[in-house]
Amino acid sequence: MTNYLNNPTSKSAMRVVVFGGYGQLGTDIVNELRSNKIDAIPLSHDDVDITDSAHVSRLIEEYSPDIIINSAALHKVDECESNPQKAKAVNMDSVENLAMICKEKDMILLHISTDYVFDGKSQEPYTEQDTPIPINVYGKTKLQGEQRIQEIGCKHFILRVASLYGNKASTQKKGNFVETMLKLAKTKDELSVVDDQYMTPTATLHIAKQIIPLIKTDEYGIYHCTCEGSCTWYEFAKEIFRLSDISIKVIPVDSSAYPANFERPRYTVLENSNLKKHRINIMPHWKEAIKQFISERRIIENKDKVEVET
Ligand SMILES: NC(=O)c1ccc[n+]([C@@H]2O[C@H](COP(=O)([O-])OP(=O)(O)OC[C@H]3O[C@@H](n4cnc5c(N)ncnc54)[C@H](OP(=O)(O)O)[C@@H]3O)[C@@H](O)[C@H]2O)c1
Repeated sequence: MTNYLNNPTSKSAMRVVVFGGYGQLGTDIVNELRSNKIDAIPLSHDDVDITDSAHVSRLIEEYSPDIIINSAALHKVDECESNPQKAKAVNMDSVENLAMICKEKDMILLHISTDYVFDGKSQEPYTEQDTPIPINVYGKTKLQGEQRIQEIGCKHFILRVASLYGNKASTQKKGNFVETMLKLAKTKDELSVVDDQYMTPTATLHIAKQIIPLIKTDEYGIYHCTCEGSCTWYEFAKEIFRLSDISIKVIPVDSSAYPANFERPRYTVLENSNLKKHRINIMPHWKEAIKQFISERRIIENKDKVEVET
């Protein structure tokens, strides 16, 4: 079944407000919506603190969108652990507020969630049918956000994404794994990278592209949305350097080499079961996605070099 986004005669201009719209994923979502001729309004943390429910309500009243996308979150896992009140306020309470507004105004909420809702004890990819059991404050508060949306019962898409990298690095984490590896390789001869955590590196560009066919349906619910395949961070680092023609020694280590104030799930590979069920899964294999990312990054770098030289 399709909703009015698919029917150009039913609505002249579709409008989408994107909280976290200047973040790593939000930036690609806004660009992709605009390339599909959808009116996208990005909101930054400076524009509005999502925990300020009155301000959020006023902006939604003002913009009157058809869809609200929420990519804003407190996702620094260590900060969530040391400041659970703040994590709850951003990842649960403000999501609850958005869901209530959407329910009241009959708007659609597309909310970005995480693979960290799972405990990582599985040995095979998690589907949307598996029971989430988060093991840290970040995962717990993101799951609570999901649950409040479901309880309130607004029209919703909940997208669980994982291990993101994009052209605009995470504004909160001040980077992403790919940029960190490439930067470290400039000053180091060898790097120790964790080889006991399995995940699927996922380019934000492909999530943004996947959102377009998804919002053209009215198949509301939870969706796993990651690239295909899986690897460890060590394997991902090796592939980044191979594709970038960088020769550097990469040493596989256990997570215990990098102690943290939170527990990390060891295996958070997600299966895009629901996207496949609805025959709209367009997520590529992680190796294909990183190859495309590195090659486009090189084109941009070379263009920048030429512009500086001329
Ligand atoms: N990055 C990953 O690997 C990863 C993995 C799984 C799931 N996710 C989820 O993906 C989403 C997007 O992540 P991302 O990688 O695009 O990170 P990002 O670049 O840090 O984007 C998140 C945005 O939310 C904004 N934000 C944070 N607190 C806010 C608040 N109280 N009010 C308004 N805006 C606020 C941040 O602004 P400031 O930086 O200015 O505070 C930031 O621009 C998040 O929901 C995250 O939970 C990310």
